[in-house]
Amino acid sequence: MQHFRNVQDVPDIQALVDLAFACKQDPRHLHGLGTGKTLGMVMLNPSTRTRISTQLAARHLGMEVVVFNADKDGWALEFGEDVIMNGTTVEHIREAAPVFGAYFDVLGLRSFPALQDAAADQSESILQQFVRYSGVPVVSLESATLHPLQSLADLMTIQALFQEKRKPRIALSWAPHMKPLPHCVANSFAQWITAWGGADFVIAHPEAYALDPAYTAGAEIVHDQQKALQGADFVYVKNWSATEPYGTMPCSDPSWMLHLDRLDITNNAHVMHCLPVRRNLELGADILDSTHSVVVQQASNRVWAAQAVLSQLLN
Ligand code: CP
Repeated sequence: MQHFRNVQDVPDIQALVDLAFACKQDPRHLHGLGTGKTLGMVMLNPSTRTRISTQLAARHLGMEVVVFNADKDGWALEFGEDVIMNGTTVEHIREAAPVFGAYFDVLGLRSFPALQDAAADQSESILQQFVRYSGVPVVSLESATLHPLQSLADLMTIQALFQEKRKPRIALSWAPHMKPLPHCVANSFAQWITAWGGADFVIAHPEAYALDPAYTAGAEIVHDQQKALQGADFVYVKNWSATEPYGTMPCSDPSWMLHLDRLDITNNAHVMHCLPVRRNLELGADILDSTHSVVVQQASNRVWAAQAVLSQLLN
């Protein structure tokens, strides 16, 4: 694996999941692979879980880690081509990325979409310029459209909890929110679950919130949450902003928020969320405080997912 930006960078999904489980069983699995190697984590946006779990993972492998809060502590970066830099940006990515590449053996990048222009976000321009100009393996710590480390941890969580011979039924359900959020977690979860192919997968959202078909092909898509929840073994709850018009929030219907009673028609479903979650806005506290919630398991699996990915990039 040269870079880790999306599921297409992964030659064998199940082998990577199995490697993550091996790391979970023995955190010192592959320890020493990272000796003398440095991970640089360039953070253009806030993070709790990704920031901490990736550092822990790198240290388990023996790597040194530098976290650079580029959004707060660095010179404002310019990503435009052929620009005259007479505005607020101070340093171009064409100089900054090779400098990072000179300092670090592996580079992590956290960036968010602007949610202004779908084509611009889909181009993944910021992530791709880090890849193009740094000259070292790049791991996405969440980008404009995807969050692959989260999805790998989510797939681990599903496989750990579901041991039956049949395929699990997994529902991804849109949830209300107070502000328009990126599509990354939902896109990425859909991309990984469909690429894995081991589930009956349904996505429920209000009209105007259709995800990019590039990520959802193979999933059943409904606008009736009840239909999606029927018989579900897992319900992944997540808000994302609309695609029509892009980046807006035309519907914030609170009836889409799940409470415990809504789970009656599921197969005693495990309820997932990537966190952070806004209680009683996005997801009912009665679910988060119940044994249905597996959000902490998901977050803890982030360490082992990152350890597996970093080990492959070091290889
Ligand atoms: N789920 C997730 O990526 O969490 P953070 O935003 O805290 O990193």
